[in-house]
Formats: sequence, C-alpha cells, structure tokens
Amino acid sequence: MITGGAGFIGSHTAVSLVQSGFEPVILDNFSNSDHSVIGSLERILETKIKWYEADCLDGDSVREIFSENEFAGVIHFAASKAVGESVANPLKYYRNNVESLLILIDAMAEYGVKDLVLSSSCTVYGQPEILPVSESTPRQEAESPYGNTKKICEDILRDYIKSGAKSRIVALRYFNPIGAHPSSEIGELPKGVPANLVPFITQTAAGIRRELTVFGNDYDTPDGTCVRDYIHVLDLADAHVKSIQYLFKQEENFYDVFNVGTGNGNTVLEVIKAFEKVSGKHLNYRIGPRREGDVVKTWANTDKIKNLLGWTPKYSLEDSMRDAWNWQVKLGSAGK
Ligand SMILES: NC(=O)c1ccc[n+]([C@@H]2O[C@H](COP(=O)([O-])OP(=O)(O)OC[C@H]3O[C@@H](n4cnc5c(N)ncnc54)[C@H](O)[C@@H]3O)[C@@H](O)[C@H]2O)c1
Repeated sequence: MITGGAGFIGSHTAVSLVQSGFEPVILDNFSNSDHSVIGSLERILETKIKWYEADCLDGDSVREIFSENEFAGVIHFAASKAVGESVANPLKYYRNNVESLLILIDAMAEYGVKDLVLSSSCTVYGQPEILPVSESTPRQEAESPYGNTKKICEDILRDYIKSGAKSRIVALRYFNPIGAHPSSEIGELPKGVPANLVPFITQTAAGIRRELTVFGNDYDTPDGTCVRDYIHVLDLADAHVKSIQYLFKQEENFYDVFNVGTGNGNTVLEVIKAFEKVSGKHLNYRIGPRREGDVVKTWANTDKIKNLLGWTPKYSLEDSMRDAWNWQVKLGSAGK
C-alpha cells in the first residue's frame, strides 16, 4: 500500500514498484493531488492501478482497506508538507503527520503487515556542522512544526521497535526531490506559490511568476548562494523499492534510517544555469536579501544506502531540470 500515492513522490514510486513486479494499491485523500494522476499512471504503465479515496486519519476506512487487501508492506507518504503553513497551523500538521502514522501502525499490527517505509526528511539535521551529513549526525531542534513532525514520526517508530514490535521499518531522509517522469505524465503539482526552488524556476520561465528571487549570495559557499542536494524523483522512487526489498530480508523487530540524496551539493545559481542550459530559456531572476531560517548548505553522505541497499542515483541535475521543464511545458499555465 502506498499512502499519498497520488502525490509527487508517491506517484513516481508507484511507477517504480510496478516496474519491479509489485502491485501497489494507492490510498489518497487527494487533498494535495489530482485524480487525473491515476489515469496518468495507467498510461505510463499500461495497466490498471487499484486506488482508494480515503483519509489516513479515518481509522475505520484504513482498516477496511487492510481487510480487503493482503498487503506485503506499506510506504507511508501521506502527510502535509508546507513548512510555512505548519508554522501558522501546527495542529493540522501534528494531526495529519503524526496521528496518521499511529493509525497506520495500529492497522498494520491488526492485519499482520510487518514492513513499513516512512518518508522522513533531511530537515531533521537542520544546519549540520560537518558535511556531507551522515545518518549518525545528530538531529537538531526542528525549525518548524513540519520538521518536528518528521522527528516525532522517526522517534515513534524507533520506540515502537524498541518495545519489541515484530515490524521491520525504514525511515528515508530525503534531501531535495526534483524532476518529473520523463513521459511528462506525472510530476510535481504545487498548489499556489511554490515554496521549492525548482517549481518556482519552471513557473517563472513559463511566465506564471514574474521573477525568481535568490535569497542571498553572500554565504560561505562556492558562489555565495545556498547549497542543497537535489535528487531526481525517479531515483528517490527507486530507493523505496530497494527499501521494501531490503526489509523483506531482515529479521523481525528492525528499524533503520537512510539518507537519500546524490551525495553532491549544488548552489542555487548552478541549478538556474542547469535549467537555462537544458531549456534554452533565459531565467528572470534577481538576488535578494538572505531569508531567515534558511539552511546555508547541506548534502548527503550516501555510503550507507549504497552499501546496504545497493542503491545509487542514475540521473544528473540536468536530467532533473529537463524533466521538470518538460512537465511544466505540459502543464502550461496551470498552477497559477
Ligand atoms: N517533496 C519534498 O521536498 C519532500 C522532502 C522531504 C520529505 N517529503 C515527504 O515525502 C512525503 C511525500 O511528499 P510529496 O512531495 O510527494 O507530497 P505531496 O503533497 O505531493 O503528496 C502527499 C500526498 O498525500 C496525500 N495526503 C495528505 N494527507 C493525507 C491523508 N490524511 N490521507 C490520505 N492522503 C493524504 C495528498 O493528497 C498527496 O497526494 C511527505 O511525507 C513529505 O513530507 C517531501
């Protein structure tokens, strides 16, 4: 089962799962996705996809779905993810992100489903002192309620396993997922003004936004702009498939965390240059003041996931920008 399977990362993971021989079942309340994603998936995969419109917070519906299917495992994407909104409305985030996990764990225990992959985030590291950041780097106090929900979800899973639960669980700490499926059938569908760099770039190039502001160019980085580890969403999707396959091989009562990034950091200006190169378009951007709360630089040490899961990223930054741009071209002026 993929909760949030109609969303950005969930839909790409559905593709990778089918292509690896799984039969994913999607559970989504479509609060941040569109029903058309299901048809798009079916076009890419040339097969029917089983899906439920349901809310992870509705325990009765969740249990009913478990009773109708024999799940081998669960990948839990469903969550609210807008950092700014989480500051304004923290309870929504604690409810949707934390309570949904508890409901899901209970249902899994009731129906004997052992394997779970959770979407976590590099946000749990804050601004790491030593780079690249490895899984043993201490987590820091969260900058936002959203970030805190990821820490809390990880802690819940760790404590659940410590209590002797028979489950096998992996939390994946994503760095910065970007790009889209090369078919341009699925991609990121930001509602309102995008909070992430790449959709803002593509929307600006498409004429939906007037200009992009780069927040600060006087940081201690190669060109003064912030550094992130941008990972193609299909590489991230593949990490979920590898995680589930890895869990199947573990003993009961297992919990671990993995970074999922490329291992390389890119500055904002490098991302803009890569976009301009693959799209052939000039991007209208200006340098603005630093933005409060921004992590200056972070990128992943990926040794653990490479060694234990046999996962390596295949796509370059330019691949990601090309796929993100083709997706934007397909969307046209949608996303205003
Ligand atoms: N995109 C990123 O940059 C990023 C980075 C780190 C971690 N994550 C995490 O990865 C996961 C997926 O992110 P995404 O970018 O695909 O987000 P998304 O919003 O595109 O997908 C989430 C999906 O979950 C659904 N959903 C939300 N609450 C639900 C509920 N209560 N019941 C059923 N469905 C529900 C939404 O409708 C949406 O389809 C989230 O947990 C997010 O916090 C995302």
